[in-house]
Amino acid sequence: MPVSQSPSETSPDSLSGTRVLLIISGGIAAYKSLDLIRRLRERGARVRPVMTAGAQAFVTPLAVGALAADKVFTELFSREDEQDVGHIRLARDCDLVLVAPATANIMAKMAQGLTDDLASTILLATDRPVLLAPAMNPKMWSHPATRRNRETLAGDGIGFVGPGRGEMAESGERGEGRMAEPLEIVAAVEARLFAFKPIGPLSGRRAIVTSGPTHEPIDPVRYIANRSSGRQGHAIAAALARLGAEVTLVSGPVTLADPKGVTVVRVQTAVEMRDAVLAALPADIAVMVAAVADWRVADVAGGKIKKAPGEDPPPLRLTENPDILKTVGHHAQRPRLVVGFAAETDDTVDNGRSKLARKGADFIVANDVSAASGVAGGVMGGTRNRVTVIGRDSEDSWPELDKDAVAERLAGLIASRLD
Ligand code: C5P
Repeated sequence: MPVSQSPSETSPDSLSGTRVLLIISGGIAAYKSLDLIRRLRERGARVRPVMTAGAQAFVTPLAVGALAADKVFTELFSREDEQDVGHIRLARDCDLVLVAPATANIMAKMAQGLTDDLASTILLATDRPVLLAPAMNPKMWSHPATRRNRETLAGDGIGFVGPGRGEMAESGERGEGRMAEPLEIVAAVEARLFAFKPIGPLSGRRAIVTSGPTHEPIDPVRYIANRSSGRQGHAIAAALARLGAEVTLVSGPVTLADPKGVTVVRVQTAVEMRDAVLAALPADIAVMVAAVADWRVADVAGGKIKKAPGEDPPPLRLTENPDILKTVGHHAQRPRLVVGFAAETDDTVDNGRSKLARKGADFIVANDVSAASGVAGGVMGGTRNRVTVIGRDSEDSWPELDKDAVAERLAGLIASRLD
């Protein structure tokens, strides 16, 4: 079951307003740092560069400074810089310290706490998250000394991106040691920055959200699915995360980007979704938004079912899928607040209310998914929604809203209920 810590993809302003202190140490991969600076800045980050003496043998401070549009810091004891910024301020006036490329030497110094130049002093003085993009010869990377340093640093909470495998700059050398590509580093910077949760009314709370459709296989190439896009569930996961919750989003197959600051578990079938939800317990909040298929094919064919001329179409025998909401609503580790959705085409509110009791939910968010709902673009697969929030002794009809706005309102309701 693939799990990712989002954000896994980069959007044009994904780093807007963030400050990255980029330490370039002395390796041939330093040339890639020029492109890295450009990529970080394109996404809105401010990049303040620090170069070791070794780095300046590969790229010039002039080139680095021009791309960063900032002063390049190189000296530990520069009268001008110490008065102006100072290594302690350099170490703290940023949201993340990125070392790219990180040589075997700088890793060894970090592991030992040595401070004999500006870069190593910043790395000891900083209280910000630190991310390394190692780059070195494969023999140096696999050397027991580097392995020990790596483990020490990982144990100190230092993050790593790469290195990758492939051809080295030195001709004839191949193996693990190539610096990660700039876009991979950018994605790791985003993941590291947004792993630091916003503080909000749901800080310290854990939430599980299901989203999207499920795909129930018929044979290796065919499946039963529905029109759910995952927009509503993904928006709810993002809204809960913005309020500070630690969110696990269990998503069926969708084409949406992973919401920021959310752990995403991708599944295909209802049974996989149930297993992933139960594995994510205990939690304080469960919001089951996924349009889970009620049935799956009882006997999934091992090979593609063939069409034979003159024969009747093959029958599909269905069997019931587990009801994930009902399972969670009656579970020994039932979250304090359980919210379900009810997609209905008739008697929306009455059906929603009967589900509330049956499924053991605190709220059912009922939405009319029929064409008669009048919601622009349709609810299933569309961007807007009109819902009625049914509680044990309440019933609240919200106006037609964007799915993001529905999510925002629902997250607020959840936060006030848990308060
Ligand atoms: O029974 P119905 O599918 O209408 O109930 C809708 C609610 O139950 C939704 O919250 C949906 O995510 C959840 N559900 C589920 N597992 C199923 C079927 C529905 O969690 N197998």
